[in-house]
Amino acid sequence: EEDPRINGIKTRIRVVPDFPKKGIMFQDITTVLLDPKAFKDTIDLFVERYRNKNISVVAGIEARGFLFGPPIALAIGAKFVPLRKPKKLPGETIFEEYELEYGNDRLEMHVGAVEAGDRALVVDDLIATGGTLCAAIKLLERVGAEVVECACVIELPELQGRQRLKGKPLCMLVEYR
Ligand code: PRP
Repeated sequence: EEDPRINGIKTRIRVVPDFPKKGIMFQDITTVLLDPKAFKDTIDLFVERYRNKNISVVAGIEARGFLFGPPIALAIGAKFVPLRKPKKLPGETIFEEYELEYGNDRLEMHVGAVEAGDRALVVDDLIATGGTLCAAIKLLERVGAEVVECACVIELPELQGRQRLKGKPLCMLVEYR
């Protein structure tokens, strides 16, 4: 049975047709952030799920994982680590590449930010093909962290991104078909 707060969140997500290009129905979460109740409900639902799971690190994916990850990390008492697009992090980094529709992109993580034995939650706004979350999981596992779960506000289930998560569970709030 669905938590009654989820429908309120769903109604605040703005779907923008043909952005950033023709045929894409863009799922805009900035309109969730405009509603303090919906934004708080989003954070609370994840905090309630993860507060007693011994999560030591929340890894947020640039850019919109930086909006949802930090408030979750603060509430559950975990550190926050940004997983960034190329050449944004100043320290020593490791990276994982993933495929885009045209070409490749990569996620980078600071060396030393996550340690062996850390228990990680990966946070982003949306899972589509799952390529981005897959790269995040690989980064965390390379340094010896255990990825406990991935958390997204929105899932596009038709793209079957879950199948690329290396068996890691995914928690999402809203499906868009
Ligand atoms: C979007 C979204 C996820 C990713 C999901 O980010 O915020 O990070 O795509 O897609 P996937 O499951 O197919 O990998 P985007 O690529 O638009 O980058 P941005 O956050 O920097 O705008």
